[in-house]
Amino acid sequence: MGKIIFGDQILERSDVHIDLEDRGYQFGDGVYEVIRVYSGKLFTMKEHIERLFQSAQKIKLDISMSPEKIQELTEELVKENRVDFGSIYMQITRGAAPRTHMFPKPESNTKAVFTAYTNEVPRPVSLFEKGVAAITTEDIRWLRCDIKSLNLLPNVLAKQEATDYDCFEAILHRNGIVTEGSSSNAYIVKNGEVITHPADRLILNGITRQVLVELCKANGIPFVEKEFDLRDLKDADEVFISSTTSEVMPVIKLDVETVGDGTPGKITRKLQALFEARINQDTKVEI
Ligand code: PDD
Repeated sequence: MGKIIFGDQILERSDVHIDLEDRGYQFGDGVYEVIRVYSGKLFTMKEHIERLFQSAQKIKLDISMSPEKIQELTEELVKENRVDFGSIYMQITRGAAPRTHMFPKPESNTKAVFTAYTNEVPRPVSLFEKGVAAITTEDIRWLRCDIKSLNLLPNVLAKQEATDYDCFEAILHRNGIVTEGSSSNAYIVKNGEVITHPADRLILNGITRQVLVELCKANGIPFVEKEFDLRDLKDADEVFISSTTSEVMPVIKLDVETVGDGTPGKITRKLQALFEARINQDTKVEI
């Protein structure tokens, strides 16, 4: 179980109680982040905390804690819970107030509720080697997928559909245009180019995606942000997805069809290696 962050304190999980009228619980009125821990160190923490503030600002939620304070608490929690390889989940909601849709009035003094906890999660290395299967399904989400909001019902339904087909991920499309995965960004490789949906309001600008953009640039791998459709997906030389927990994950089967020769592609493997080198570089334990 371990300890958790509640507000600006680190407490025992069993000592924390969330109000039944918390707006996160009732409306999904809040935003969240998931950060990976490697060898006890938080990977791309600044970027994740920055995105948390951007998401909060987009829904007019005042975090009322500084990014530095969140960073300090997060690092302390990872240490206290002795997380080696795992993740930290953090969320902030608009707080607890009598249930009405509009924001609580300033005079009600409703305070945002910040919580975070850690998990031990091994890196899915055997899946990195083998690749995974995915389905394609309609993207039925709202038009602000750039916000990492707690409202995940369409994502939950899509992931469950994938699970029902024994697949790892659901790749989403709007009228045939591929947006992203239910909890990941999606890419194709065609004629040596890595192609992914532009980081607009229809996808989450993944932190892993941002690292991959940098790695492609630094290593001369063409990276193109443009729309592609289901036909391009099915005709791709390689397909992969990326996320904090899945890193760079090859997709070797799509619906009933095999991708390429059914094994992780060359550029996907190269990006996996570059990503792993970046993790090692950033989370090196100083001796
Ligand atoms: N999901 N797109 C969606 C819809 C996501 O939910 C995620 C991450 C990503 C990838 O973002 P990043 O590289 O910053 O993790 C893209 C997290 C891990 C989750 O909800 O568990």
